Amino acid sequence: MKALTARNADRHALYEIAVQRPEVILGLIDELAGMLELPKRRVLREDFCGTAYLSAHWAASDAERRAVGVDIDADTLAWARAHNRDPLGDAARRIELIEDDVLNVRKRADVLVSLNFSHYIYKARSELLGYLKHARRCIKPGGFMVLDAFGGPGSIEASVDRRNFSMFEYQWEQEAINPLTHEIACHIHFRFRNGSKLQRAFSYDWRMWSLPELRELLSEAGFDDLGIYFESEDGFIGDADAVELHAWVAYLVALRHPTG
Ligand SMILES: C[S@@+](CC[C@H](N)C(=O)[O-])C[C@H]1O[C@@H](n2cnc3c(N)ncnc32)[C@H](O)[C@@H]1O
Repeated sequence: MKALTARNADRHALYEIAVQRPEVILGLIDELAGMLELPKRRVLREDFCGTAYLSAHWAASDAERRAVGVDIDADTLAWARAHNRDPLGDAARRIELIEDDVLNVRKRADVLVSLNFSHYIYKARSELLGYLKHARRCIKPGGFMVLDAFGGPGSIEASVDRRNFSMFEYQWEQEAINPLTHEIACHIHFRFRNGSKLQRAFSYDWRMWSLPELRELLSEAGFDDLGIYFESEDGFIGDADAVELHAWVAYLVALRHPTG
């Protein structure tokens, strides 16, 4: 196999390998859907879908599942169509990809997700609340939303987290958090065996929201709290273990009440 270098690498493909774990999210959604006894025909809406990797896994997992992916970036969606949707054959017809601002799209779903901290683009409380209210309106009664968050003492200081994959090294760089605004700049870099590097393959300009803030906003948006799930390499861990971690990633799950 040809060695990967900065010249021939595809940043979206590397991102999927290094960052995304659709099976974890699908497992969590299935567990919650079972608990809530959702009807079988289930529609997933993936806001900020990027390459729609999760939407593709969702639609491929069951002939009665449909996905709606929404992203504002035309090039990323073109990549999603070519690499994740079109190769699926029949299941491809059950994936709709919409190029727009999530706030302009009213398609409804049983489950709506915002992952990899995409909602951190909203820096003002009123903006994030506006998005959560909109998301709730786009969820059918009895459905739920999953959104993630990161935190822990290690997540507020400048750092570079490195992980090795067979053909490249993944680097997650965080600049120090602004204590006044909680704004944080993060970058993904990829380094290859020949020493070349895709510097700032992805960059993010975010406000880091805390779990209590997110919970309060979800409640203000009209959601019922279904809990917080802390992720670890081997599955989900309890809150008591999570507070010991230097850095953590968690999923918040919020219900649109069946009668609401
Ligand atoms: C952090 S990436 C997340 C990609 C994917 N959801 C994941 O889990 O890896 C954020 C994505 O949101 C898209 N985006 C940013 N602002 C948006 C908006 N207002 N409406 C729709 N998509 C947006 C970007 O183009 C980008 O693909």
